[in-house]
Amino acid sequence: TSPLRLGIAGLGTVGAGVVRIVQTHPELLEARAGRAVAITAVSARDRNRDRGVDLSAYAWEDDAAALARRDDVDVVLELMGGHDGIAKQVLETALDHGKDVVTANKALLAHHGHALAERAEANGRIIRFEAAVAGGIPVIKALTESLAGNEISRVMGVMNGTCNYILTRMESAGLPYDAVFQEAADLGYLEADPQLDVGGIDAGHKLALLSAIAFGTRVDFDGVELEGIGAITIDDIRHAADMGFKIKLLGVAQMTGRGLEQRMSPCLVPASSPLGQLEGGTNMVVLEGDAIGQIVLRGPGAGAGPTASAVMGDVMDLARGLRLPVFGQPAASLRAARAAQAAVA
Ligand code: NDP
Ligand code: HSE
Repeated sequence: TSPLRLGIAGLGTVGAGVVRIVQTHPELLEARAGRAVAITAVSARDRNRDRGVDLSAYAWEDDAAALARRDDVDVVLELMGGHDGIAKQVLETALDHGKDVVTANKALLAHHGHALAERAEANGRIIRFEAAVAGGIPVIKALTESLAGNEISRVMGVMNGTCNYILTRMESAGLPYDAVFQEAADLGYLEADPQLDVGGIDAGHKLALLSAIAFGTRVDFDGVELEGIGAITIDDIRHAADMGFKIKLLGVAQMTGRGLEQRMSPCLVPASSPLGQLEGGTNMVVLEGDAIGQIVLRGPGAGAGPTASAVMGDVMDLARGLRLPVFGQPAASLRAARAAQAAVA
């Protein structure tokens, strides 16, 4: 069988992490996929930057869109970021040139997910994005595959590693916001624009993506009620602790009598609860369905290894021939969130 040939656009925290996995485990990947998984071309802004991985065997493209058009690429990995501009152009180019796409870009999908899903279907292609939500935790696989027989009633959780890291370090080390913010940056957790993290926007993107899959609605990021952690002080954290609580940036999406509700905001949770005990960059996602009841998924929500792990899981699915609709059902069957609300009300 011919190898699955990857073109990687973006060689930062996540992209370099993916290269590292492909280079570390080639036999393991081939044995599991039944075919070799090979990188053929890469792209980033600065060709001379040391990324801690050997790129000499791969073709270099200065223009990521050119990488998405290459004949020797079967799957384009979009690991650059940004909800418009080059990232969107790379996805559209890849889909229009007959390539499947794996991306970690929640911002792009939260803003353009429905249109991109329609474009993928029109071209007979697939977009996979496990890494976009809760880093290394296989929450999209859980919803689209393992729980596909359930009607989902609620999705909730802590979905931003940066915020959880900052909140827990401020409490445990008594450090000021600025010091722990830099630690999160050093760990590779931050978005290129960190306001997306601390403003709750990144977590809101993730919640909107999970809602689309869970409730069969078009991605409705504008429908997420958002509040970030920027106004939380050490005093707030201490007062919460005095009462036996922790402050967490918690997301909840659920179908209620009033329709689909999506909220991402700082909440008090009991310090002794599993959510209260979530430390550092760890994420936790709780899924509730009519048959399963409740399951809890917990794990690393950001950083090179965990995120690259999720990207490679998607690559392996494509190598094995698994072809699922982008949001778990055909784009045409995804309802507008308002229509879903009206149907419930
Ligand atoms: P980085 O900033 O570390 O890397 C971005 C990469 O994209 C860099 O290699 C950069 O090139 C490249 N790039 C930027 N613009 C262009 C361009 N115009 N043409 C070609 N290459 C370009 O980001 P991350 O790796 O942290 O994140 C990548 C994506 O993964 C984002 O969508 C992010 O939201 C998502 N993500 C990140 C996680 C994390 O923990 N970091 C977790 C989950 C998702 P150069 O290196 O030369 O500057
Ligand atoms: N900036 C994101 C976070 C990366 O901190 O969770 C993972 O999506």
